[in-house]
Formats: sequence, structure tokens, C-alpha cells
Amino acid sequence: MSTSALALAYPEPLHPQPRLYIIDDDRNVLDVVGRFARPHGFDVLSFDNATDALLEVTRRPPDAALIDLRMPGMNGMDTLREIKRRAPFCEVVLMTGYGTIESAVEAVKLGATDYVRKPFDFTRLKDLLGLIRAESDRRQTVAALESDLLKQSQFHGMIGRSAPMLELFSLLRRIGPHFTTALITGETGVGKELVARALHATSKRRHKPFVTLNCSAIVETLFESELFGHARGAFTGAHETRAGLFEKANGGVIFLDEIGELPAPVQAKLLRVLEAGEMARVGSSDAQKVDVRVVAATNRVLEDEVEAGRFRSDLYYRLHVVELKVPSLRERRDDIPLIARAFLEENAREYAKPLRGLTPEAEHALLRHDWPGNVRELRNVLGRASMLAETEWIDAPDLLIGAPPGPRAVTIGPVRPMGEVEREQVVRALEETRGNKKEAARRLGISRRAFYRRLEKYGMHQPAIGDEPVAFDD
Ligand SMILES: Nc1ncnc2c1ncn2[C@@H]1O[C@H](COP(=O)(O)OP(=O)(O)OP(=O)(O)O)[C@@H](O)[C@H]1O
Ligand SMILES: [Mg+2]
Repeated sequence: MSTSALALAYPEPLHPQPRLYIIDDDRNVLDVVGRFARPHGFDVLSFDNATDALLEVTRRPPDAALIDLRMPGMNGMDTLREIKRRAPFCEVVLMTGYGTIESAVEAVKLGATDYVRKPFDFTRLKDLLGLIRAESDRRQTVAALESDLLKQSQFHGMIGRSAPMLELFSLLRRIGPHFTTALITGETGVGKELVARALHATSKRRHKPFVTLNCSAIVETLFESELFGHARGAFTGAHETRAGLFEKANGGVIFLDEIGELPAPVQAKLLRVLEAGEMARVGSSDAQKVDVRVVAATNRVLEDEVEAGRFRSDLYYRLHVVELKVPSLRERRDDIPLIARAFLEENAREYAKPLRGLTPEAEHALLRHDWPGNVRELRNVLGRASMLAETEWIDAPDLLIGAPPGPRAVTIGPVRPMGEVEREQVVRALEETRGNKKEAARRLGISRRAFYRRLEKYGMHQPAIGDEPVAFDD
């Protein structure tokens, strides 16, 4: 049988000994077969009824099961079906005393590996156990190889081995030691922050501070003092002199996330730091030297912001000297299985669940999906699936993706005013996220500030509610 391409080595490097269930109402069979199988290297669990066995499947999943066809209560065929549902990769062999070809055929159709007749032909049983053992070893080897592959496909916390990612890693390696400013662009959730951290980690400043400011998360009036600090008495409430982030980052790297949100006066001050290596605290005229490398990120098209007069062109050109474009997940689908695997390993640890991997159907669903929210969306989808999964294998329905792209598809009809379409998208984003504005902004691919601006524009702003989910009726 085939193995998922995503078998995980976690939680145990599979079991060193494959686990074999023997399910038969005849205790004699349990005893004899159990004694026969143990020396062949199996960890044997015996059950005299199907119900007990099924209860154990989630906790101690079997690699193989020998199931009696005729049992009181749940019969062998139904047990086979249930075990396969909960442990899709379990090898099942049916044992039958009344072996008819018909039931054997049906069993194999339902996913049984084979069947054996009772009374046992022990040579045949031995061959079957040998095959099961070989398949289990093969699966362990695959899991170990995939684990190695994953280790080799990481670059400072970023996973990837697709051509565009290898190119990005190579670029990072080359510019890391030399850059003074860098601009990271890419859609939401592609990993811009990880790229910024990788730049720091590959630079000579890796032992110096890495300081982050998310420009969309700060009130306009506090920007300057946050970045450059303030002198005592510079404004109401400035009781003490305070150092800003540039001073804290001195000698290291500052990461300005969502740089497109930077207000104009701050843009001017930033340019001065970049050009002259100088800044002054708010309320002070003393210029100070700072030595800070600046990494900026944006998921907007900054050229458009420049054209619209919202972003200084001189600052843009300065930042743009080195641009790192992070490809969307759609442009590197080869990486999806590998990243998924890493996330599942994390989830298995976090939820203390024995997750082993994805079924082939689940993997196909991930490969087909469009990922508008990129790697962050993949992380969320797998997080939810890991919680939902009833078995150690995540199956396609657990992912809750792959719904027809209906709502996202282009609607046919007369052209409508942009504002109307935009308002509708804002409303839908709020509905889909049950009023979580942060998440709504994320799904729309705009910053939180930009999102708030739109709420104001369409008269939907509800101050003082912040990011708390709000009842939204419109
Ligand atoms: N190549 C990758 N390998 C593993 N995890 C990744 C990778 N890229 C992104 N992630 C994970 O995806 C999530 C989103 O990444 P990140 O926050 O860096 O995105 P971003 O581009 O900054 O998004 P935004 O524009 O919304 O701020 C994080 O949890 C990050 O760890
Ligand atoms: Mg980010």
C-alpha cells in the first residue's frame, strides 16, 4: 500500500516495533497467534471484541491488524472499515474460518491487505507477517528521510527548497553581511518578518540587537518619540528623557514592518538617519550619531504610495536599493508538503496529539488550494485541523478548505463603483471573522491602520472596541 508523502517521524520515530492488533472472540486464537507473532518483532495487543480494539485505536494506533471475520457484536468487515477510517495506513488481514472467495474479495476492496484461512497455515501467516514488517520498516525509512530533508531545507527558521526560495536564501546569504538598508516585499503571510530576522542572523550584527516596530500598530502622534526618543518636557506627559528604538538598536538592526504606514514627518526623519546616520530626540536639538541597519517591509505596492504622494520618493529609492521579494505560496507549491510537515510536528507537540501526517487526499487538497493568506493561512488551517483530527492522520475534510472558489470568483454583471465593491468586501471580511478587525485586515491583505481608515470612510468605525470581536450588524 502507499504511504503518505508526509509521514511524520513524531511522536516516536514510528514505533521501533510495529504494533499488531489481534481481534478475535476465540481466546485460543489470540493466544496462539500472539505467541507466533511476537518473535517476528511485533508489539502485540489482543482484543476479544471489536469495540475494545476500536477504543484503543486513537490512543495506541496499530500498524497492522489481524481481524476475525465472524465475531459476535461488530463483525470483521465493519471492524476493518472502522479501523481503516481511524488509522488509514494500518495493514489489515482478515482471518476466516468459513473463507469464501466473495468475502475475501470484498475485504480487499475495503482496503484489507490480504486474508488467511483458519485453521492457520503457519507458513502463510509467517509470510504475511514478514510482508507487514517490511512495509512498516519501509515507512519508517521514508519518515526518517523526510525528517532529514526537512532539516536540510531550513534557512534561519524559513522552510523551503523550491527554486524561488533557494534563490531567496542565496540572496540573503550574499547581502546579509553587507546591506545597510533593505526592503522586503510580498503578500501578507509570506514570511517577511522571518526574512528580516534571517537578514539580521546572516549579518555581522547577529549578536547585536534586532529591534522591531510595526508601523501599523502605533498612534501617529507617538511615532517620532517611539523611534527617536524624547527629551524631558518635550510634550505633555514626557516626564523623563527616553531613548527611542533607534538608540536601542544602535549597533544592530531595526525592522520597520508595514513601512507604508509611516507618517510623512517621520519619513523625513528616517531619511535623515539613513543618509547622515544622525537623529535627534523629540524636543531636543542635539543631533546624535546612530549606527543602525534598517530593514523595512511592506505588503503594499510602495510605488503606488509614492505615486499617490503618500510616500516620499527619495526614501523609497533609498530603501529600494536592495529589494527582497518573497514569493507567494502559490508560486512555490513544491514547498507546501514540507512546510505542512513542520507545522504538524509543532502541533503534535503543542496539542500532545500523536499526529503522524496527512492522508494523500489531504495533501492534494493543500496542493490545490490557492492560499491567499500564504504561509500564515497554511499554519492556521493545519492548526485547526490538528485540533479537529480524530485520528493520527489528518484527512481532507479536517482541513475545511477546498470549498468551491465561488465567493472569490469574478461575478458577472455590470461594473460597479469601486467604493461599493470595497465596502462590500470590508463588510464580508468582518462577517467572516466575526468582527475581528485584525484578522479582517489580514484577510483583505491590508494593514490594520488601512483597515480602520476604511471603516471610518464607510461610517463603520466603532472606537474603543479595539481588536475585541464585536457584534457587527449591517
Ligand atoms: N518559509 C517559511 N517556513 C516556515 N514558516 C513560515 C515560512 N514563512 C512564513 N512562515 C510562518 O508564517 C507566519 C507568517 O509569517 P510572517 O509573519 O513572517 O509573514 P509576513 O509576510 O510578515 O506577513 P504580514 O504581511 O501579514 O505581516 C509566521 O507564523 C511564520 O513563522
Ligand atoms: Mg509581518
